[in-house]
Amino acid sequence: MAEEPVNVNEYQELARQALPKMYYDFYAGGAEDQYTLKENVEAFRRITFRPRVLIDVSKISLSTTILGYNVSAPIMIAPTAMHKLAHPEGEVATARAAAACNVIMILSYMSMCTVEEVASSCDAIRFFQIYVYKRRDITAQLVQRAERSGYKAIVLTVDVPRLGKREADIKNRMIAPQLKNFEGLLSTQVVSDEGSNVKAFADSTFDASLTWKDVGWLRSITKLPILVKGVLTHEDAIKAVEAGAAGIVVSNHGARQLDYSPATISVLEEVVHAVKGKVPVFVDGGVRRGTDVFKALALGAQAVLIGRPVVYGLAAKGETGVRRVAEMLKDELELTMALSGCPTIRDITRGHVITDRERLH
Ligand code: FNR
Repeated sequence: MAEEPVNVNEYQELARQALPKMYYDFYAGGAEDQYTLKENVEAFRRITFRPRVLIDVSKISLSTTILGYNVSAPIMIAPTAMHKLAHPEGEVATARAAAACNVIMILSYMSMCTVEEVASSCDAIRFFQIYVYKRRDITAQLVQRAERSGYKAIVLTVDVPRLGKREADIKNRMIAPQLKNFEGLLSTQVVSDEGSNVKAFADSTFDASLTWKDVGWLRSITKLPILVKGVLTHEDAIKAVEAGAAGIVVSNHGARQLDYSPATISVLEEVVHAVKGKVPVFVDGGVRRGTDVFKALALGAQAVLIGRPVVYGLAAKGETGVRRVAEMLKDELELTMALSGCPTIRDITRGHVITDRERLH
């Protein structure tokens, strides 16, 4: 592809060309039959608009607040693992792009740059995502390092008691590098004789006994607000609020965990209704267009998280690529707002979209 990409999907092909197969497959793949991987994207396509006309849209503002922080758009960078496999500058490049676009970056627990390196590289608003390890002392240390380094929230990912079965990684015998955050604390290079070494590492290290009461433990070791990422039902949304979460991320982990989980956009409203405005609800999975961002906001999300497109942008063009991905989504969202009669984010309502379920009635 000689020309510049005109949408974020086109970065995927550039990433495929730029990366060794093992790494491209790691980023692109989903679990098992990859039903949910397709559905995350397809479900957005089944939602259409009810645009309003003859509203003054000569000025459009995408700006909004997330946990009280002013940002340029309701778009965040999702936590995704191991950015140096995509580009030598790794998470530092991603964070610089986030800062340039004034969007929030959520740094993955499985990053290849340390929490401190990312913090000192730019002034992006940063959240820190965590998994809880069996060695709670290690998780506690990382949370405290993030808090000291100015991260503004902890994102507790709750959908990985074990790693999903990602068959491309098994075939490629995906290798986990030593992650710098854990140097001197534990080896992240668990060697398994067969299959994915990333899975061998996660399954031997992550604490599968984690329960809702451990959110209380996390709250006891940090003052930062805690977002719970990986909720797909109204039952768990209520439990998250009861446990003291400051926000919920509706997520199926980019379809990398339980295949045949529902598309996240199809369960967003269920969660939004259960939460009754007590805490903000965010969503990720399959957001590839500004129209998708608009649809998520219309269905009650306060912002979306973007996973793979960011990594593809990084693989293709480093910091510039991540910037372009964020800018393209922002530009498309702005256009969607203009064409739907919504000059500000607050003007986007449930009445601006129609879901396939409603169309059937
Ligand atoms: C992820 N995701 C993820 N989530 C998390 O909480 N911690 C992590 O370390 C990772 N790592 C990770 C690596 C890769 C390569 C992918 C694709 C995803 C999940 C991520 O935060 C997010 O939920 C999804 O990526 C959103 O879906 P899309 O935008 O990729 O479709």
